[in-house]
Amino acid sequence: MIKVRNLWKKYGSVNVLEGLDLDVHQGEILVILGRSGAGKSVLLRHIIGIEKPDSGVIEINGIDITQCKKNIIYQTVKNMGMLFQGAALFDSMNIEENTAFYLNQHEDPVTGKAFPQAIIKQKVTEALAMVGLEGTEKKMPSDLSGGMRKRAGLARLVVYRPSILLYDEPTTGLDPVTAQQINELIVQTQKELRGTTIVVTHDVHSALFMADRLALHRDGKIAYVADIDTFMKIKDPTIDFLKNNLKYTLRKDTK
Ligand SMILES: Nc1ncnc2c1ncn2[C@@H]1O[C@H](COP(=O)(O)OP(=O)(O)OP(=O)(O)O)[C@@H](O)[C@H]1O
Ligand SMILES: [Mg+2]
Repeated sequence: MIKVRNLWKKYGSVNVLEGLDLDVHQGEILVILGRSGAGKSVLLRHIIGIEKPDSGVIEINGIDITQCKKNIIYQTVKNMGMLFQGAALFDSMNIEENTAFYLNQHEDPVTGKAFPQAIIKQKVTEALAMVGLEGTEKKMPSDLSGGMRKRAGLARLVVYRPSILLYDEPTTGLDPVTAQQINELIVQTQKELRGTTIVVTHDVHSALFMADRLALHRDGKIAYVADIDTFMKIKDPTIDFLKNNLKYTLRKDTK
């Protein structure tokens, strides 16, 4: 369960988050829509604890990560994972090393010790197979296409089985078939890990496919958050625009 209350953040003189409130329920996929520059990536970076707000509360399973000490933040956020916008693989590491990165950084929650290398290797193989990248272990990120890099980013995320997963624009720049594969992987991962997922996307098709609830990020706040049917019935120019856009692409698809 994630609870955000009255979150404020300004860069220089620009207010990006202006008293934002949001609840994300255990076990759901919440999809956040919003215009470019609305502050969606900034919000995710706050939720995962890599940025501090000017004020406000971010509770992860009852712990306010804006107030507690570094080691408590670490304990809290180590069960979280984020797929950064643009995948953000480490360029100097091959795909196997990229995928193993968090397992090398985290201890095994069951034994409390570092994971043995043989286990890491096995988990990496499984994660790469899950995203359809078997056999790419020794390739460098620059050897892969954009879609493959996104999938490698996904493998790096799911390999340590975080219970809270944040995805920032997981399908941007991908062809529709690859995008749909990523959407399916996100839903499958959510089911498998029984986690809590937030996805930020511009793609209304992806949003409708994945979401349990939809949210609209606007003017530094979450303007609306609701289940899909309720959300689509809200009378608002932005939501009308999203609906029209959807009709247009559906018409194009059937031609
Ligand atoms: N570290 C930073 N320093 C200064 N300004 C920042 C910083 N990070 C974000 N911003 C500003 O905050 C605003 C929101 O940025 P953000 O990246 O969250 O937008 P976004 O909603 O994710 O957009 P997009 O859909 O294009 O990814 C932008 O005006 C951006 O320039
Ligand atoms: Mg962004």
